Amino acid sequence: MDFTLTEEQIMIRDAARDFARNELLPGVIERDEKQEFPHEQIKKMGELGFLGMMTDPKYGGGGMDTVSYVLAMEEISKIDASASVVMSVNNSLVCWGLENFGTEEQKQKYLIPLATGEIIGAFCLSEPEAGSDATSQKTTAVDKGDHYIVNGTKNWITNGGTASVYLVICQTDVEKGHKGINALIIEKDMEGFVVGPKENKLGIRGSDTHSLMFNNVKVPKENRIGEDGFGFKFAMKTLAGGRIGIAAQALGIASGAFELALQYSKERKAFGKEISKHQAIAFKLADMATEIEVARLLCLKAACDKDEHKNYDQSGAMAKLYAAEMAMRNTIEAVQIHGGYGFVKEYHVERLMRDAKITQIYEGTSEIQKIVISRGLLK
Ligand code: CAA
Repeated sequence: MDFTLTEEQIMIRDAARDFARNELLPGVIERDEKQEFPHEQIKKMGELGFLGMMTDPKYGGGGMDTVSYVLAMEEISKIDASASVVMSVNNSLVCWGLENFGTEEQKQKYLIPLATGEIIGAFCLSEPEAGSDATSQKTTAVDKGDHYIVNGTKNWITNGGTASVYLVICQTDVEKGHKGINALIIEKDMEGFVVGPKENKLGIRGSDTHSLMFNNVKVPKENRIGEDGFGFKFAMKTLAGGRIGIAAQALGIASGAFELALQYSKERKAFGKEISKHQAIAFKLADMATEIEVARLLCLKAACDKDEHKNYDQSGAMAKLYAAEMAMRNTIEAVQIHGGYGFVKEYHVERLMRDAKITQIYEGTSEIQKIVISRGLLK
């Protein structure tokens, strides 16, 4: 077992680290406060290749491995989890889904501008009454021969307002259960498609989360991904990889908070010495560092499984479950180590604590990860 990163992987990690410190850190507090999408920064991320990292270069991507993607996600998330969720959805769900299951025409038309970051994509599965229970889709796509007519509502859609292309999971034949579900590519300017109001969120406030309404949207059949009825499997396969990205996001949020807490503990004095020299704090730091390392290894293991074309449903779910729970615990500890300073915005850790919460919820709650893991065990 070789834990050594390649030169290329180190270079990508360092480039992401520099970008996060130089371009994302300035203004991150204000963007969070004003719920401002990082338009300029996301544009630069596209130019640097962070929005289509794993996509084949022939479709405008970087052709990198999943390990590099995990390393970059950790670095970006240490500073700005609002930017990293845009990166994660565009890379893992939208580009990966289109590259692996789209037609050549769909790749030429949609994947190339998505992978180069010219446009951004969204993945639309969740509904007012279908989040965890993903087969209960109420959005319908009625087959009209050469096109579908789509009606329904999607909720909590990341990149909802900023995206140009939406991968929308719809029910075509309710009798067939999950085999009656289709994934359709819907463009923002298709008639009858309405972007609803932006959500006012606890965390990742710089990201753009909306509900979406589809009122008799006419979608050509050539915009269906895969065979008729493939939509649920498309969603499951895509989310399995997406979970590795979100695990790396959670890891980054935790390691960002840890680095701040470690630094603070070496500067802040109490009872005549730096607080890091008090065992109460030193033990917290030791626990945090250990848990972060465990999460990092789980993320890299899942990424290696994917790169080696092994099944990563289990390892991805384990990484996501552990990293998300760990991020929540450890960002709370980072605030605690900062004391009163941790409770104010300029020290960053309160934002990281708020951002950590969503990693336990999106791309499958922690409970969903346990379903995936236990089903794998009991198979
Ligand atoms: N790969 C391929 N096929 C898969 C699969 C996978 N990973 N997981 C399931 N399937 C297949 C099964 O084999 C089965 O097919 P067959 O009937 O042909 O055998 C079919 O899909 C149905 O599977 P299940 O019976 O296991 O389905 P279920 O209804 O019991 O659901 C679940 C399983 C794991 C709970 C699933 O519903 C799930 O993952 N729910 C959570 C959804 C989720 O993550 N939502 C997040 C929204 S997206 C988001 O958050 C993006 C963002 O904004 C950041």
